[in-house]
Amino acid sequence: MNMKKVVTNIILGDSKEKLTELGDNSVDLIITSPPYADQRKNTYGGISPEKYVEWFLPISKEMLRVLKPSGTFILNIKEKVVSGERHTYVLELILALRQQGWFWTEEFIWHKKNSFPGKWPNRFRDSWERVLQFNKSKDFSMYQEAVMVLVGDWAKSRLKNLSVKDLSRDESKVGSGFGKKIANWLIRDKVYPNNVLHFATECGNKSHSAVFPEALPEWFIKLFTKEGDTVLDPFLGSGTTTRVAKRMNRNSIGIEVLEEYYNLAKADVLDKTETNKNKSLFIELQQA
Ligand SMILES: C[S@@+](CC[C@H](N)C(=O)[O-])C[C@H]1O[C@@H](n2cnc3c(N)ncnc32)[C@H](O)[C@@H]1O
Repeated sequence: MNMKKVVTNIILGDSKEKLTELGDNSVDLIITSPPYADQRKNTYGGISPEKYVEWFLPISKEMLRVLKPSGTFILNIKEKVVSGERHTYVLELILALRQQGWFWTEEFIWHKKNSFPGKWPNRFRDSWERVLQFNKSKDFSMYQEAVMVLVGDWAKSRLKNLSVKDLSRDESKVGSGFGKKIANWLIRDKVYPNNVLHFATECGNKSHSAVFPEALPEWFIKLFTKEGDTVLDPFLGSGTTTRVAKRMNRNSIGIEVLEEYYNLAKADVLDKTETNKNKSLFIELQQA
């Protein structure tokens, strides 16, 4: 029998220090949602928007070191409103990360399908967050087939009456070199998704105030890793990333500074063989 081993490593501590203990070029995907500036001060502290970039850069420097050249870093973040306008710390962070050596490859939008209704004097309710993709090189691993979606109703109406143009290749009018031949999609039942992700938030049954839905890490784990690869979340919270990675047969490392959340994340994987070393937890699963 071909035995594969999946390792989940949950670490208690500050990721700025704990990341230094990980090997160079050892991680395939980093996916994380760091504390947003000044938010949830009462639960796990907040970093002032003015200090956010300065606080983040030493951590992202270590991430750059531990990520494989073929790897991807996914950052879920959203700027808060300060004195009636959106603060620019996320934009400043993007520029600073580029200076640090990251390629800013893509920006996905996470549309929160179930955001609460509300009334604000000068804006509407927040219903989306940024999910930024950074890479170490332009040649990174990506498994696009793994996230294909059913063609759905769009195809039924769009492909019903094909024009002459649809049957031939329609070259880009702006000279971008991109063209499309709609008829090619006629024989397919799946298409590639776009960069807007529609996931509902999950907060009902967790003892953490800012969990992201399992569907979020799951989608990126599918897109950027294969079984046996290693996923890192340096701001682990309740352990969503490590839980999902384990279920998907990926090795994972999670770092969480608060013992309460570390214990939550640990409880998720405690049902298997356990060795507790220096407040780190190593779980090894023997799988067929
Ligand atoms: C937005 S929450 C992450 C929630 C997580 N995605 C989940 O689904 O549960 C950010 C987490 O980062 C932790 N944190 C803040 N600063 C940290 C640091 N320097 N090192 C490690 N964890 C930190 C906080 O305690 C918090 O649990």
